Amino acid sequence: VLNDIEAGREMLRHAIDASIGRRRLRSPRAIIGVPADATHAERTALVATASDAGVRVVHLVPEPLAAAFGAGLPVDEPEGSMLIECGAGTTEVVILSLGTLCVQRSVRVGGQALDQAIADHLHSKHKFLIGKGTAERVKLDIAARLVGDQSHMADLELKGHNVLSGGPAILSVYAQEIVEVIDRHAALIVDVVRDALNETAPELSRDIHDRGIVLSGGSASVLLLQHAITRATGLATHVAAEPLRCVAKGLGAMMV
Ligand SMILES: Nc1ncnc2c1ncn2[C@@H]1O[C@H](COP(=O)(O)OP(=O)(O)OP(=O)(O)O)[C@@H](O)[C@H]1O
Ligand SMILES: [Mg+2]
Repeated sequence: VLNDIEAGREMLRHAIDASIGRRRLRSPRAIIGVPADATHAERTALVATASDAGVRVVHLVPEPLAAAFGAGLPVDEPEGSMLIECGAGTTEVVILSLGTLCVQRSVRVGGQALDQAIADHLHSKHKFLIGKGTAERVKLDIAARLVGDQSHMADLELKGHNVLSGGPAILSVYAQEIVEVIDRHAALIVDVVRDALNETAPELSRDIHDRGIVLSGGSASVLLLQHAITRATGLATHVAAEPLRCVAKGLGAMMV
């Protein structure tokens, strides 16, 4: 979702320059992914920004639809597929068949909200402040460790600001505390997945039962999230190949 129109315009200009270089196209076209639940105002702002950046024709495509293409799901077939696009700002749960989104649920909760939850936990429990970048690094560190052997989770050493002493400090934290923050975050997403499944027609449910759920987006690599979804739904879950690139690959495939 576009928060900063000027930054968005500059980013698009940069992307156009990088892809077409100095060639001048008479009517450049663009295909842009948007959250499936983007509001009318958000879509209008994006189209206006693209037009400012020199794009003449803009197609907006729901990101989870693009991600499903990019993940190689049989989107156009008369069968049901389920995908969860786990981004930084949003998590989108969709069930697709015949090229359309049959069920769609979004929450504005994603990797950034998890970073914030980690920072909030350290603040309230340890009176310790860390920046956004440190919070994200803690998350990536724990997520990477969980892929390996979980029995040896060394404590984390964090640099930040001690609220009580009022200065820079180092804090040692049990890794398990962060694991619990991630578990609580995963529960929020599991609720949305349950909602989507409750709304699904029986024929599609049957297909999803057979094929399982595919996860895409950067936050799909949080193994605890994947496990929580598997436990709560009883369905198999798979992380797509190159999860961070599914939307881009899907949009690219739609362009040709
Ligand atoms: N290996 C990883 N493990 C856990 N989280 C990761 C990993 N790699 C990236 N992330 C997280 O994934 C998020 C970025 O994912 P992605 O690029 O799909 O989001 P986005 O498209 O920018 O966000 P949105 O779709 O919500 O607008 C960040 O929160 C980042 O911290
Ligand atoms: Mg995204």
